[in-house]
Amino acid sequence: MKTQVAIIGGGPAGLLLSQLLHTRGIDSVVLERKTKDYVLGRIRAGVLEQGLVNLMEEAGCAERMHAEGFTHDGTLISYGDEIFRVDFSEHTGMPVMIYGQTEVTRDLYEARENSDGKIEFEVQDVVIQGANTDTPHVYYTVGGAARRLDCDFVAGCDGFHGVSRQSIPLDVRREYEKIYPFGWLGILSETPPVNHELIYANSSRGFALCSMRNDNLSRYYIQCSLSDSPSDWTDEAFWEELKRRIPKEQADKLVTGPSIEKSIAPLRSFVTEPMRWGRLFLCGDAAHIVPPTGAKGLNTAASDVHYLFNALRNFYENGSEDGIDTYSEKALKRVWKAERFSWWFSSLLHRYPDQSAFDLKMQVADLEFLRSNKAAQQAMAENYVGLPY
Ligand code: APR
Ligand code: PHB
Repeated sequence: MKTQVAIIGGGPAGLLLSQLLHTRGIDSVVLERKTKDYVLGRIRAGVLEQGLVNLMEEAGCAERMHAEGFTHDGTLISYGDEIFRVDFSEHTGMPVMIYGQTEVTRDLYEARENSDGKIEFEVQDVVIQGANTDTPHVYYTVGGAARRLDCDFVAGCDGFHGVSRQSIPLDVRREYEKIYPFGWLGILSETPPVNHELIYANSSRGFALCSMRNDNLSRYYIQCSLSDSPSDWTDEAFWEELKRRIPKEQADKLVTGPSIEKSIAPLRSFVTEPMRWGRLFLCGDAAHIVPPTGAKGLNTAASDVHYLFNALRNFYENGSEDGIDTYSEKALKRVWKAERFSWWFSSLLHRYPDQSAFDLKMQVADLEFLRSNKAAQQAMAENYVGLPY
């Protein structure tokens, strides 16, 4: 088989890139290790920056998002019994869109299918060869049969555990990582959200987050120990713990119910440099991971897709290699800013096992500064709604 762009990974990054390329008549093939149902079964964050909303529009996939998503003009932050709001619209003129990553992925699959996009599911043994030559190709197997895909470029959109990053030689790659000493226990429940905007809570018992998917679907998280497993937490225990971590006024009106999903996610910051090697480009989780505080994972994948899409467009439409040559540098500049924000917002809100009395005072001072200072709120709001591409 032959295509212009071989895309490894059919998560949101790979699908969005494939669909955007299609709008410009650039051919791609997506190779996905799992089934479509498996990919759509993953519950991830649900806050979209305007940049991603724009890309979904450009890809022709924004109709359901605009019909079913909610725009949020601000968020609440609590510590102890104090609560304050950061107004995104006031500080940046922009809201965020509440729409689940699962729905984004579903819409992208539908668009690819409607335009006869080529997606191979359940592929195995993907090997990228010749990435540093003008004739890259990808070997893989599907249903036991060996295949070869020749292409001009390879987009590595295969997430943190994919093969693309590993295809870049070790002496070229530099990795930066921070592992956090706790996880997030999340549940999804068919109950009305406790508040019409998200609540990020710093409490002496640990972080909590009240989020949502729609009027009758709530997503809640509590900071937990890395040694916990979801089965250690009954729904009752989860709700009781959540109530202890959010202000009393919110706890009193929290509507509880059975969970329909319960899982624990570890928290990690990770970046690999460079994001390009020859004709191989890394995109999204394949190149970087952020802790979920601030919901930057999907949004940072989206900004990579934006830079890569424009680089490829420039190559095919204008014969220019400028975008390709500057892809890694441009993407990484924004990635590091999202890393900084996610790290800062995590450190503002969580309890760390080795936190000293001084560290705790610094956290409260940081929160009080944010609460009382317009410039601090503006900086937070600009990062939360998404820095410019
Ligand atoms: N071959 C083919 N596909 C692979 C391989 C492989 N060797 N390894 C992984 N994949 C697939 C995975 O099954 C997955 O569907 O690549 C896809 C990667 O998707 P995601 O992990 O969702 O990553 P990405 O598309 O970059 O999405 C951005 O940022 O913080 C996160 O939650 C956010 O998942 C979102 C991500
Ligand atoms: C979510 O709704 O799952 C969510 C929202 C905001 C975050 C993280 C996760 O910061």
